[in-house]
Amino acid sequence: MTWKIPLFKIYWDEEDVKRVSDAIKAGMNWAVGPNIEKFEKMIAEYIGAKYCAVFNSGTSALHAALLAHEIKQGDEVIVPSFTFIATANAPLFVGAKPVFADIEEETYGLDSEDVKEKITEKTKAIIPIHYGGCPCKITELREIADDHNLILIEDAAESLGARVGDKKVGTFGDSTMLSFCQNKIITTGDGGAIITDSREIYEKLKLIRSHGRLETSDYFSSTEYMDYITLGYNFRMSNIVAALGIAQLKKIDKIIEMRRKNTKYLTERLKQEIKEIITPNSPKDYYHVYQMYTIRVDNRDKLMKHLADSGIMTKVYFSPVHLTHFYKNELGYACKLPVTEETSNQVLTLPMYPTLTNEEIDYIVEEMKKFFEVIR
Ligand SMILES: Cc1ncc(COP(=O)(O)O)c(C=O)c1O
Repeated sequence: MTWKIPLFKIYWDEEDVKRVSDAIKAGMNWAVGPNIEKFEKMIAEYIGAKYCAVFNSGTSALHAALLAHEIKQGDEVIVPSFTFIATANAPLFVGAKPVFADIEEETYGLDSEDVKEKITEKTKAIIPIHYGGCPCKITELREIADDHNLILIEDAAESLGARVGDKKVGTFGDSTMLSFCQNKIITTGDGGAIITDSREIYEKLKLIRSHGRLETSDYFSSTEYMDYITLGYNFRMSNIVAALGIAQLKKIDKIIEMRRKNTKYLTERLKQEIKEIITPNSPKDYYHVYQMYTIRVDNRDKLMKHLADSGIMTKVYFSPVHLTHFYKNELGYACKLPVTEETSNQVLTLPMYPTLTNEEIDYIVEEMKKFFEVIR
């Protein structure tokens, strides 16, 4: 379907095209090549972490992180249900059990009090997400992890560049996952990364992502025998994709600035015109990067339909994972998460992207006004 205003548009420029075409024109090193290490160094430096390993998706990156941290059968991992399903699936990939905790309503991140309730002697890790570009209450979660000797893996798929004070997301966890899927802050189409300060985890990640092979140099252009020392996968990002990542990361500050500017205008207009909705907010000292612009509203489904009829795409991020067919019927989950369930019934993500114009924002607001004038 073609929308008058889609939910997101990718921000790209001629440098993206040039770097990708240069990588192609090299005529070799399409799988493994120098762009990968360069992109990894740039990400680590941008976040302020020691190591970064890139992957072919955020999901495979998270899978690899759980393997590297040796999370396995018999372990429990505390996750939100108010997330994209991959966060909850990651423990299942390694035979561990996802245990859902509820969220708090300020950031839509994991609620520390409920996390504490869910800790058992089997708990090995916590995987909070930073929802839609807003850091969760990550310092509290770090404290809980330290107090209970748990691994903290940040799912920062949606929040590259967000920070608490001066500290960027990605610097709180033992490892952090990023996604470069097409609706994220920067994108390589699909792609992901793990950031960590642990040399040991970084080395394990490199083995896991490439067949468990001890790569002493570029496998494809070396005659050297390289041994296979553990079970591994092919979770590699290609050198062509990494070229795009480099060009995208160079623009990240501009991209975030444009998103924040559009958000400011949209929030001002909505606050002025429509009393029935709650606009997004974040705690003091939190730097929100607005990968998503999510409002809360009663009559959400009717508003969504009205906007769709006007050519404006909106979406529900997220419907609870514990209520999906797979978790409820196949895995037999029957937990109650009241805040998650209530929030999921009210949230609506509106279009938000760097090149969204004030005229487009005005159109969204006018259409929303029309809807509320009728139902008032
Ligand atoms: C919170 C969250 N976790 C995990 C993922 C999975 O990332 P990817 O789509 O790169 O596999 C996404 C992105 O869709 C996400 O939003």
